[in-house]
Amino acid sequence: MLFEQVTTGGCQSYLVGCPDTLSAVLIDPEISQIDRYRALAAKHGLRVRYVIDTHTHADHFSAAKQMGEMLGAPTVMHHASPAPHVGLRLDDDDVLIVGNLRIRALHTPGHTGDSMCLVVEDRVFTGDTLLIGGAGRTDLPTGDPDQLYDSLFGKLLTLDPALLVYPAHDYKGRSHSTLGAEIADNPRLQKRERGEFTQMMRELSLAAPTHMTEALRTNMTGGKTVCQLLAEASAEVPHIGLEALHRRLGDRPNDLLVLDVREESAFKSGHIPGARHLPRGQLELRVNEEIPDPTLRIVTCCEFGKISMLAAATLRSLGFMRATALDGGMKTWREGGYPLDY
Ligand SMILES: [Fe+2]
Repeated sequence: MLFEQVTTGGCQSYLVGCPDTLSAVLIDPEISQIDRYRALAAKHGLRVRYVIDTHTHADHFSAAKQMGEMLGAPTVMHHASPAPHVGLRLDDDDVLIVGNLRIRALHTPGHTGDSMCLVVEDRVFTGDTLLIGGAGRTDLPTGDPDQLYDSLFGKLLTLDPALLVYPAHDYKGRSHSTLGAEIADNPRLQKRERGEFTQMMRELSLAAPTHMTEALRTNMTGGKTVCQLLAEASAEVPHIGLEALHRRLGDRPNDLLVLDVREESAFKSGHIPGARHLPRGQLELRVNEEIPDPTLRIVTCCEFGKISMLAAATLRSLGFMRATALDGGMKTWREGGYPLDY
């Protein structure tokens, strides 16, 4: 088996390939590692046939949709997954054939309703159903301690104890364990009576994961993260530096328009001299009356330099082909000691 484990913070993802045919699967890809997965597949000469998410992640951004599109491979999840971009939905005991590898899906609900474990030869990818020294929390959407009890004690832990355990998370830098070692030492598995186990899971009272609502929104729908939206806008528009803009304003050019897209109170509390005010929320409605000349060089600015990128991208799509965003926001303009009008 060709095998690569990619660690991103506490997230673990895996590239698993058949050495005879160079077919492969990618398991639980994370969005910041897209280039790495492609590079690792290329390093081994692998053709990725399936991109699998073991469950709907609530704590990180899945790259399954993007990787599937890039690699021409279906995104695979359990049939209970709500994500519309899933191309192949599995049931309990379904097997994916990848070259000479057999990947068997076990439906193991509990952490989420759509959780799966994947058994491949000598190992099992446990998602968040079983972690090293832990088990996935059951207090997030579709979680259920009773189901987790059944999935663990009725299913996963009945497999060969020698199976290597590769989880979707580990926060202590450990790469893997075995089922036998977890049965012996994992504190969550010492409560072997249903009532004790479910009570323990209900009483964990863990903090909500950071970015949970955004992760659920994007992973459940295939929608974009705010970072992706901004990255796409920034790839579409050029930027101009604070110093370059300051210098050009000194020349009093008549083909340069600074467009401040903040709300009125922010504009009135200090803006770039000569800037015109058109809030982002009114941009499309008022652009025709405010900017009659589409050949103007427009520099959009906002407080932090993010909304201005979206505004410049919108202006470009409307035909203002010289729209540019200020590289930085009014905050850095003020802190840089550049001039202000009120
Ligand atoms: Fe999870």
